[in-house]
Amino acid sequence: LLLDRRPKPLTGKTIIMTSGPTHEPIDPVRYIANRSSGKQGHAIAAALAKLGATVRLVSGPVSIPDPEGVTVTHVESAREMRDAVEQFLPADAAVMVAAVADWRTANEAGEKIKKKPGEKAPALQMVENPDILAGIGHSKLRPRLVVGFAAETQDLLKNARKKLDKKGADWIVANDVSHATGVMGGDRNAVRIVSRSGVEEWPDMSKGEVAERLAARIAAALQAVEV
Ligand code: CTP
Ligand code: CA
Repeated sequence: LLLDRRPKPLTGKTIIMTSGPTHEPIDPVRYIANRSSGKQGHAIAAALAKLGATVRLVSGPVSIPDPEGVTVTHVESAREMRDAVEQFLPADAAVMVAAVADWRTANEAGEKIKKKPGEKAPALQMVENPDILAGIGHSKLRPRLVVGFAAETQDLLKNARKKLDKKGADWIVANDVSHATGVMGGDRNAVRIVSRSGVEEWPDMSKGEVAERLAARIAAALQAVEV
């Protein structure tokens, strides 16, 4: 048996992550959610841990198990996710994969909303949720490397480039979720890494392969003097 005694490339590095959807309550039995299985985010967390990183994963409600070697904080809503993420600052990197609900209901009902004969359907008042990635990207405690995701149905690269600045991110991992690409909930993904120095197009591969390649790229960036 040969033991690999080389130090792992991310040993000593702390990385904050988000994954999965958020649930925004309407009343005690109903919520608004986003389509996200957590598969891609959880795979990235596992891949980073395999390279030696201390990974603080804040996960929304998912039906997949916690990734191996990772500390997981389970939350429901965007505001809970933001609070958990902020507790883990400072960190060397942040990788925000969660599909955060952009809006929540303005006034969550304390009791189950009941149908009443003759009354019309209730209207939902919505307010915007905090932007967790932008909060980290523009924070005084900003990690050296900040990575966001962008799922788009149109103008993929244009929208991803805009998000670099809006979010204060170094890279946006962009994927096209238009038509029946099967990315949402599926096991494969075709992404582009958008940074200020250009666009890298990756071929279609499994979410596990995307995770390993991204983890290796993160390790290289954190080892370099400049990100
Ligand atoms: N994000 C976040 N908090 C939010 C919304 C998004 O942290 N309230 C993060 C996501 O985790 C992702 C990135 O921001 O890494 C981009 O999410 P996306 O939904 O594509 O961007 P938005 O700014 O919400 O823009 P829009 O949905 O209008 O395209
Ligand atoms: Ca959004």
